[in-house]
Amino acid sequence: MKPLPPVELRRYAEDDLTILRRHNAPEMTAYLGGPESEEKLLNRHQRYLDIPDSGKGYMFVIWTDDMRVGMIGYWEHEDKGETVWETGWGVLPEFQGRGIAVAAIHELVKKARADGTHRFLHAYPRTDNGASNALCRNAGFELVGEVDFEYPAGNPIRCNDWQMDLQAESAT
Ligand SMILES: CC(C)(COP(=O)(O)OP(=O)(O)OC[C@H]1O[C@@H](n2cnc3c(N)ncnc32)[C@H](O)[C@@H]1OP(=O)(O)O)[C@@H](O)C(=O)NCCC(=O)NCCS
Repeated sequence: MKPLPPVELRRYAEDDLTILRRHNAPEMTAYLGGPESEEKLLNRHQRYLDIPDSGKGYMFVIWTDDMRVGMIGYWEHEDKGETVWETGWGVLPEFQGRGIAVAAIHELVKKARADGTHRFLHAYPRTDNGASNALCRNAGFELVGEVDFEYPAGNPIRCNDWQMDLQAESAT
């Protein structure tokens, strides 16, 4: 297995709006309903700043070589009547294909394990999102099945449900 690049996850902060804007591009949101309006983006920025205070999740910027290269987070989600952590991610196009997302998931899993609030971490990439589904498999998630979501609201999508048991020895 090739070595993973060193990455650091830093809490999303006020001056991270620039990378959030870069994530709001057509190629970064192709499986997420397309770019959002400026108003929705600014609401999202505030949500990401506020979420740690609620204890219901965290958003991080992925840093490598002193550069912001992507974003990843985890937040509470109801899955079949149980509260689990859901994760989601993005790596800027010029940094993709280097294992940055896998490395970021490993760091995120350490944080979620240390947090200890919920046992399971889930990811729900659209079934046709080849890169994200490959990523889930590479990062050690297990495929549970398929689920229907609306994202954004009013837009039905079919997703894979990937799960990781944070209490398992094998969890990265
Ligand atoms: C998904 C994403 C974060 C992956 O980032 P990355 O840093 O390039 O990921 P990695 O390099 O760690 O690994 C990507 C894996 O996907 C594979 N992959 C890339 N494109 C693929 C495709 N179209 N079909 C199948 N596999 C693909 C790569 O080959 C690699 O697997 P490998 O290491 O076995 O070769 C990035 O593509 C992205 O930001 N996409 C847009 C945002 C998005 O869709 N977010 C997810 C919403 S659920």
